[in-house]
Amino acid sequence: MIQQGQEEPAAIPTVNIDGADVPFTGGETLYEICSRQKKDVPTLCYDPRLDPFGGCRLCVVELEGARNPVASCTTRATAGMKIRTATEAIERHRRTLMELVVSENRQVDVDELAGYASQELKTLVERYDANRGRFQGRQSGQSRDDDDNPFILRDYDQCISCYRCVRVCAEQEGDHAISVMNRGFDTRITTEFNGLLRDSDCTFCGQCVQTCPTGALADKKALKHADVPGEIEKTRSVCPYCGVGCSVDLLSKGDKLVGVLPAMDGPANEGALCVKGQFAFGFVQHDDRLKTPMVRGDDGELHATDWDHALDRAAAGLRAVVECHGREALYAIAAGRSRRQFQSD
Ligand code: SF4
Ligand code: SF4
Ligand code: FES
Repeated sequence: MIQQGQEEPAAIPTVNIDGADVPFTGGETLYEICSRQKKDVPTLCYDPRLDPFGGCRLCVVELEGARNPVASCTTRATAGMKIRTATEAIERHRRTLMELVVSENRQVDVDELAGYASQELKTLVERYDANRGRFQGRQSGQSRDDDDNPFILRDYDQCISCYRCVRVCAEQEGDHAISVMNRGFDTRITTEFNGLLRDSDCTFCGQCVQTCPTGALADKKALKHADVPGEIEKTRSVCPYCGVGCSVDLLSKGDKLVGVLPAMDGPANEGALCVKGQFAFGFVQHDDRLKTPMVRGDDGELHATDWDHALDRAAAGLRAVVECHGREALYAIAAGRSRRQFQSD
């Protein structure tokens, strides 16, 4: 009971979604609330890591009192809003939008190895049974077959101008290596002076590849294994390079490693990787890869051995340095990721 002089607690604001009142916190978009409610609102230009953009309009919902459907990814919720997420009219609207999007896409079927989000367009075309021939006409996009970098395929024939690549490069990688030039049918994803990626500020982190929903940007290294028979299996792991410990999903077919995806829920990287973690996985199955410790024998040659022997030899060598030159002669560094192992030993 409210005592005299006490203030009434502020009412929790709600929006009404498909007939149910749903509480929200200030600043949330309609799309974020719908996602929380497990509403299957489709998106194409949306990436939860990026600022809302509102380019594709696929996430439209009916908002009571509004003349037209509104894009849920860019509309902030206000108390008392009433929205409908999947009326017949909204679904028809989305289908037409999909048909416009795919009218100039030469290829909707894309190999899964192309990238993390590469199946999004295909999945939506199937969901809406979009007629790809309904809006035939001019085609935009111009593939950069001349970009012979070893990592990123730039097949802009498949581009739908969602700008996720440009935005992830700016907002996540902080690189601004790519941008958009021209407008309408002449819109192009470009580097400065419209050159090659290797002549730009690109770090080849691969984030643009992983957010592209059409395969217009694709992982050249992984696609080399497209013909390896078998289903793709994903195994959660940690990048073996530096001490940051980025989470990755290793892609394999049978016993062959065929690609790497960044883990969007990786606590250290949240979907980001560097060029090594993303593309430099060839060493795993390289013929020259060391598979056992090696120690140099009396003959001056390296010989395979077991870990106990190798560690004993290393310890003896370090001890000899200390005995001969004093303890200041030794300096050691360890990766942050080694700490837990040392502590539990
Ligand atoms: S290349 Fe891919 S991510 Fe970039 S704008 Fe085109 S479709 Fe979108
Ligand atoms: S690879 Fe990374 S740095 Fe290069 S264009 Fe793509 S997002 Fe930007
Ligand atoms: S996902 Fe909302 S406009 Fe593209």
